[in-house]
Amino acid sequence: MKPLSLLAFAGAALAATSHGLGHKGSLRKQNNRPLALDVDPSTLYPAHNLSVPIDHFHNESIYEPHSNASFPLRYWFDASHYKKGGPVFVLESGETSGEDRLPYLQKGLIAQLAQETNGIAVILEHRYYGTSIPTSDLSTKSLRFLTTEQALADVAYFSEHIKFPGLENQSVTAHDVPYIAYGGSYAGAFVAFLRVVYPNLFFGAISSSGVTAAIIDYWQYYEPIRHHAPQDCVQTNLQFTQLIDNLLPQSGEFKKFKALFGLEDLTYANDFASLLSEPLGAWQNRNWDPANDDPTFFAFCGNITSDRLIYNSTASKANEAKKLVSAAGYKNESTQLTTRLLNFVGWLNDTTIWPCLGEGESADSCFSAHNVTSYQQDDISQDWRLWDYQVCTEWGFYQTGSGTPKNELPMVSRSIDIDYLSLSCKYAFNITTPPDVQRVNKYGGFDIDYPRLAIIGGQADPWREATPLADGATPRKNTNDRPFVEIAGAVHHWDENGLFPNETTPTLPPAPVASAQKFEHAFIKEWLKEWKKHPSPAQQTTFN
Ligand SMILES: *[C@@H]1O[C@H](CO)[C@@H](O)[C@H](O)[C@H]1NC(C)=O
Ligand SMILES: *[C@@H]1O[C@H](CO)[C@@H](O)[C@H](O)[C@H]1NC(C)=O
Ligand SMILES: *[C@@H]1O[C@H](CO)[C@@H](O)[C@H](O)[C@H]1NC(C)=O
Ligand SMILES: *[C@@H]1O[C@H](CO)[C@@H](O)[C@H](O)[C@H]1NC(C)=O
Ligand SMILES: *[C@@H]1O[C@H](CO)[C@@H](O)[C@H](O)[C@H]1NC(C)=O
Ligand SMILES: *[C@@H]1O[C@H](CO)[C@@H](O)[C@H](O)[C@H]1NC(C)=O
Ligand SMILES: *[C@@H]1O[C@H](CO)[C@@H](O)[C@H](O)[C@H]1NC(C)=O
Ligand SMILES: *[C@@H]1O[C@H](CO)[C@@H](O)[C@H](O)[C@H]1NC(C)=O
Ligand SMILES: *[C@@H]1O[C@H](CO)[C@@H](O)[C@H](O)[C@H]1NC(C)=O
Ligand SMILES: *[C@@H]1O[C@H](CO)[C@@H](O)[C@H](O)[C@H]1NC(C)=O
Ligand SMILES: *[C@@H]1O[C@H](CO)[C@@H](O)[C@H](O)[C@H]1NC(C)=O
Repeated sequence: MKPLSLLAFAGAALAATSHGLGHKGSLRKQNNRPLALDVDPSTLYPAHNLSVPIDHFHNESIYEPHSNASFPLRYWFDASHYKKGGPVFVLESGETSGEDRLPYLQKGLIAQLAQETNGIAVILEHRYYGTSIPTSDLSTKSLRFLTTEQALADVAYFSEHIKFPGLENQSVTAHDVPYIAYGGSYAGAFVAFLRVVYPNLFFGAISSSGVTAAIIDYWQYYEPIRHHAPQDCVQTNLQFTQLIDNLLPQSGEFKKFKALFGLEDLTYANDFASLLSEPLGAWQNRNWDPANDDPTFFAFCGNITSDRLIYNSTASKANEAKKLVSAAGYKNESTQLTTRLLNFVGWLNDTTIWPCLGEGESADSCFSAHNVTSYQQDDISQDWRLWDYQVCTEWGFYQTGSGTPKNELPMVSRSIDIDYLSLSCKYAFNITTPPDVQRVNKYGGFDIDYPRLAIIGGQADPWREATPLADGATPRKNTNDRPFVEIAGAVHHWDENGLFPNETTPTLPPAPVASAQKFEHAFIKEWLKEWKKHPSPAQQTTFN
């Protein structure tokens, strides 16, 4: 069983030691509009590869031994609206297979932009993800070429060398036409860096929920959830967290607490605490489009704020639960809290615990991050290693409870700390030093800034405190040249997906998303006017 998962919605049987930046809105329920019966985008846009050097930096010792070889960097594109001289919109697909981003080519923001500006929309895979794999395995040694700077150089190389199939006799590189990058989340930080590092190739960039500040102890992940989730749910979650942390020092009681969830055999307290925190990771998988929404978070809240016992099978545990609630120090609230706790037990059992234990697996094999052996495989199918490696070497973002200020109740147990969340660094990669966040923070962190670099974010995004929208970041003005927009109520890069014109309704997309996208259309058109007046230096060099 794979111990770690890259994407936030891990599915039932994986231990959730950290909530990934990724997004996987795979649950198609609770629709307010008819289910999209869209043509499968993989049938519309065939995949292509560009051969790209594995090692762009023969001058840097960290890449020794160097490589002169190339690898196939995968991309998809739509040129059906293209007119000569039009812009190229490159959506950087980030830490997942580019296939997951194909719907954005069909009807996301970049599809809309390409249509309105007679441009080309491209989905570009990130090295090591999907099929764009430069090495024959994913051992620590082979992963040495997985750095943000190498991946940025891939995109620069792409922009200078691409010949789009079918457009071979036209000049459509960054030397000829304006290139504009778009990305959300890690990819959002990535395209912001791209604009700063390769301004002569990338004429503009839109960084959406871009985590431009790498932070090792990212306890703030849970703060937007604390502030924006239904408050009754938040209060109950805080009480559950107190149950864990207050019972933990009382080993006899803590064992009974684990047994309440059917997890008496789960050896490590932090594995147990981490499992109980897993539902919070579903907050970022919410989307305004019902067809892309993950309803898990609100199902969790609905269950744990119900004062009616939902799962009959837990009724027999009521006395035991009440005793534990008292042992944790709760007095007048204990009756209400006991029912809610039993609902949590039933819900977590149904959605997460039983789907693995019911297969005859042990609690440790289902939910422990402490099993060294489980990290040893490194063939190319072990794609969980990829984002983990980036986390261990450059990004951090350990979503701890331990980092929560002492004067606040933590949203997740304080037993979830950096040592626990970095077990995979040690066990999978033999990395015991902290990530070198300066490798990415040198591009500007919270203060990253460049003309024609747009910063878009979500007010309720758990990643907000790692973006230029963070509470502590320097305030910015919103201008056409440096667009800066916080989408009210939004979670993670809510401007990235879109609807066909025949699917929109007065409330879909919701007004804050619709107006952000409308503004994006408008400032891109302004940027393109500037290109006409002052083509980029890259274009000028063509004529030197
Ligand atoms: C692109 O490269 C991948 C990985 O080598 C390969 O599986 C795929 O067939 C290639 N696709 C095309 C269109 O050449
Ligand atoms: C290696 O070359 C790049 C430019 O290609 C430069 O930015 C970097 O500073 C160089 N590194 C060293 C160690 O000289
Ligand atoms: C790469 O090519 C250069 C120039 O041809 C050569 O000096 C170097 O030894 C090669 N490196 C590897 C790792 O093959
Ligand atoms: C080459 O470009 C011209 C227009 O400039 C077009 O008519 C022709 O079909 C193109 N040929 C190919 C092979 O794409
Ligand atoms: C979990 O669900 C299974 C199957 O319904 C049931 O047998 C088991 O008792 C439940 N465990 C708990 C702790 O509720
Ligand atoms: C409880 O959770 C289940 C499964 O996720 C969900 O179907 C149900 O609607 C939830 N109940 C409430 C009251 O929210
Ligand atoms: C749960 O118990 C209640 C009351 O005893 C009963 O009405 C209901 O049918 C039971 N539900 C299930 C799923 O067994
Ligand atoms: C329990 O007591 C505390 C402090 O006295 C109070 O703030 C809280 O509202 C009470 N809760 C309930 C459910 O009565
Ligand atoms: C540890 O992981 C290995 C490899 O995945 C597995 O065979 C073994 O059963 C696991 N041990 C425990 C205690 O889960
Ligand atoms: C792990 O790294 C240490 C320090 O770099 C090294 O001495 C040791 O040999 C490595 N162990 C393995 C199994 O690679
Ligand atoms: C809505 O528009 C899309 C894109 O133009 C089209 O593929 C689809 O068939 C349309 N759906 C309906 C129900 O007309």
